[in-house]
Amino acid sequence: MTTLITGGAGYIGSHAALRLLADGGRVVIADNLCRGHAAAVEALAGVLPRAERGRLVFEKADVSDAAALTRIAAEHHVERVLHFAALTYVGESVGEPLDYWRANLISTHALLWACKSAGIKRVIFSSTAATFGEPAPEQIPIRETTPQRPINPYGASKLAAERLISDFAHAQKIAGVDFAAAFLRYFNVAGADPLGRIGEDHRPETHLIPIILQCMLGLRPAHNNTLSIFGTDYPTPDGTCIRDYVHVADLVDAHVRVLDALKPGEVRAYNVGSGKGFSVRQVIDAAERVTGRTLNVSLAPRREGDPATLYADAALITRELGWSPQFANLEDMIAHAWAWFQTHPNGYG
Ligand code: UFG
Repeated sequence: MTTLITGGAGYIGSHAALRLLADGGRVVIADNLCRGHAAAVEALAGVLPRAERGRLVFEKADVSDAAALTRIAAEHHVERVLHFAALTYVGESVGEPLDYWRANLISTHALLWACKSAGIKRVIFSSTAATFGEPAPEQIPIRETTPQRPINPYGASKLAAERLISDFAHAQKIAGVDFAAAFLRYFNVAGADPLGRIGEDHRPETHLIPIILQCMLGLRPAHNNTLSIFGTDYPTPDGTCIRDYVHVADLVDAHVRVLDALKPGEVRAYNVGSGKGFSVRQVIDAAERVTGRTLNVSLAPRREGDPATLYADAALITRELGWSPQFANLEDMIAHAWAWFQTHPNGYG
């Protein structure tokens, strides 16, 4: 079984590739390396015994290039796609909406053309909790049925891509084609491969847990190795934002389960989070416990577009697919990320 992983040189995509390779599958990574890392692909190749290196193929390609994707899909006999390639920074999306709509919607359009041309039958799309925008307090925890009202171009472009995939799947069904798709709406993905073979390297880094750990390791001198806590006056018990952190390996496991479960003609959507909310201060406390180090913090104004509280109701994916996080503790996620940053202070270099 050959799986095309778009964005497979990135954080979540590379962890998905690792899992599929470990399960004995064949993986084709398509990535333009604008955010992903060639060194991540090399690390993946290094995991395979020399005789099995052919199970991993890397194609430097822009996912908005439908012709390139069609060629790749046909050449490598791709049967299914995990579509991670995207731009994912909320703040950046507000300033660069054209880039975000192109990367997140137009690329999905191109991918679907390739699916149609090459007869690919399964697509799992990386969606996001950002498609829900800022639900009212009574709509927390967020269910699959919670209204999706994105409040920034990132969330809006991902939601539009969900709709496009739905329309495509519907048309395929009418045409009698065996096609199915799923959207996984990720909450706050964290951690790294528990064996430390690959990890997280965003440039710039904007996510809470990596920033905390990089500060502790002295890797953010331009910021005085100090974490700015964005907002301490939110309507939460300690005044800081609450988020739902899910281990990257558990998120990948959700993808595998969905791939196995999808039946012809289906379009499924699942929220993937641990179902528990942790405040920024609770994350800091956990990081201090795990690392035994003290974090320098400064109190900063709210970051634009940050909702006070977001966490998932993950009951649907648990009920339908038997998924539950293996690494549900924040400490486990932080410990795995900490091991990665300690051994890779320059990330992928
Ligand atoms: N935070 C700080 N200081 C920092 C960085 C973050 O206080 O230096 C705070 C944020 O204000 C927020 C929390 O830490 O309250 C988490 O922030 P992240 O940037 O780590 O993550 P976000 O919640 O903004 O976004 C992430 C993904 C999105 C996804 C969202 C869904 O990046 O793609 O989770 O919950 F949509």
